[in-house]
Amino acid sequence: MYLLYASLVLLSLSDGLRPSCPGRCSCDALHVVQCYRLTEVPASLPSTTKRLSISHSKMKHLQLSDFTRMVALEELILLASGTETVDNDTFNTLSTLKTLELWKNKLRRVPTGLPASLEVLKLSDNSICVLHGSEFAGLKKLKVLELKNNLLSSLAPSMLSSLVSLQSLVLDGNNIESVAGPLALPHLKRMSMDNNKLHLVPGSFFISLQSLQFLSFSGNLLTKIPANLPKSLLSLKMERNQLNVVRFRDLKHLENLSHLYLSENSLSSIDGAQILANLTTLELSQNQLQMLPLRLPARLQKLDCSNNLIQRVTVQDFQDLRDLKHLFLDNNLVSLFEAGALQRCSQLSNLALEQNLLLSIPLRLPGTLARLDLKGNAIQDIAERELKDLKQLQVLNLRNNKISALDFKALEGLPRLRHLYLDGNPWNCTCSLLRAREVLKARGTDVRGGQCAAPAERQGESWMSSKKIMRQCEHHLHLAEKTREPKKKAKPEDHPSTRIPVDDDDYDYEID
Ligand SMILES: *[C@@H]1O[C@H](CO)[C@@H](O)[C@H](O)[C@H]1NC(C)=O
Ligand SMILES: *[C@@H]1O[C@H](CO)[C@@H](O)[C@H](O)[C@H]1NC(C)=O
Ligand SMILES: *[C@@H]1O[C@H](CO)[C@@H](O)[C@H](O)[C@H]1NC(C)=O
Ligand SMILES: *[C@@H]1O[C@H](CO)[C@@H](O)[C@H](O)[C@H]1NC(C)=O
Repeated sequence: MYLLYASLVLLSLSDGLRPSCPGRCSCDALHVVQCYRLTEVPASLPSTTKRLSISHSKMKHLQLSDFTRMVALEELILLASGTETVDNDTFNTLSTLKTLELWKNKLRRVPTGLPASLEVLKLSDNSICVLHGSEFAGLKKLKVLELKNNLLSSLAPSMLSSLVSLQSLVLDGNNIESVAGPLALPHLKRMSMDNNKLHLVPGSFFISLQSLQFLSFSGNLLTKIPANLPKSLLSLKMERNQLNVVRFRDLKHLENLSHLYLSENSLSSIDGAQILANLTTLELSQNQLQMLPLRLPARLQKLDCSNNLIQRVTVQDFQDLRDLKHLFLDNNLVSLFEAGALQRCSQLSNLALEQNLLLSIPLRLPGTLARLDLKGNAIQDIAERELKDLKQLQVLNLRNNKISALDFKALEGLPRLRHLYLDGNPWNCTCSLLRAREVLKARGTDVRGGQCAAPAERQGESWMSSKKIMRQCEHHLHLAEKTREPKKKAKPEDHPSTRIPVDDDDYDYEID
């Protein structure tokens, strides 16, 4: 009797004041407990714990008694702890549990008897090979189910039929070869089955997915875009498949589709995407396109046709794309770029044309450009008329071209220029080139200049920093400074580095 009384006092003390925290754990005032390197679930965990996270431990087996005292638990995370088996109903008594995460373990099946309160279940990075409908029975509140990187080989409607509230299903990185429908998940918004082995998705699969907005089948073996996609779709990802044709007529009902990702397929032409009136992003990188897509949607903001076989850019190609902001045409075979081809794109801020066959900077580019990449072409000079309208330009990349001389008047028309890449060109290091250097430096433009190819005695010197050239050109520089000085004093606000606001998309330009 006395013993019982004493232990009750002890219990209420530890509950009421400051419950003790088990070894290798940290406990905080908000009832969050984090533990590392355990071999079993500690018996002395505070029963008020709301969030328990255990990681990098060795717990091969979990059993009911591990958690029976945890009556307030809302979130349980057991990560990278080598767990292989879980007794039936181990979590069943946790009637307040909302989130259960058991990822990076060695589970071969979904634990049975999960509590009906569960809203989030994450079982990614285990060895689960099959799902049974019974494992999810009663989970009417489950919204998120993640089973990434397991060993599932098929998906059938009966497996998930109890999950009437499911909103997000992630099955990336399994071995799924076949799916059957209809999958009756009326609230499902996101489904991802990237990196599986699907050859075919039957049209019946989608019939009862009337809320689906984000669908991803990237990294499969599909040769066609599945039929009967839900009307509700906003985004469709089909990258890294084996598509060789897209029939946009079959996608006509996708009136709200705004993002379509078709990179890394085998497409040789694209025609008629304008049927998707709300499309704003179209990605077609790494296909075999020999020309730009025909009849594009008028609301397009981003078009990525990089890494194809495109040879020409004409006025015709872009005449209706007034909302275009980002255009990627790098790594193609463009040798012909019609003057003014992008003049109608009055929002264009980002143009990537690196690694093509251009012999000169295209004429009459839109004045809205903030970033122009022409790296790795065969451009021989920079003319004033090519750059004079680019008042917003902040980044200009002309690395690895064939430019030998620089007329700094051409660059004076670029008031916002911050980064200029000129290395990898065969510079003829005359004293006038050095003067261009002084002008750029004075304006605060960050310049990569590269090395001199001529004259012979300056070969290999860096034209932006060589002391030798500076000494030899001292006389020229001195003259240049004298003529510039009064102007500088009259307009001190001209100094660009103090005036230019940093734009959102002004990320540091990568150097490779
Ligand atoms: C656990 O549940 C499964 C299926 O619900 C059942 O077949 C099995 O016998 C149960 N195991 C134990 C030890 O009760
Ligand atoms: C398309 O989007 C609009 C506006 O969000 C919405 O009212 C409409 O129901 C959507 N159409 C479909 C087919 O989901
Ligand atoms: C999609 O386009 C249609 C027709 O142009 C328009 O009525 C609808 O509002 C658009 N939906 C969205 C989400 O913009
Ligand atoms: C370098 O420029 C000078 C002066 O303009 C010229 O005489 C010379 O031929 C040029 N060298 C090369 C290799 O282009």
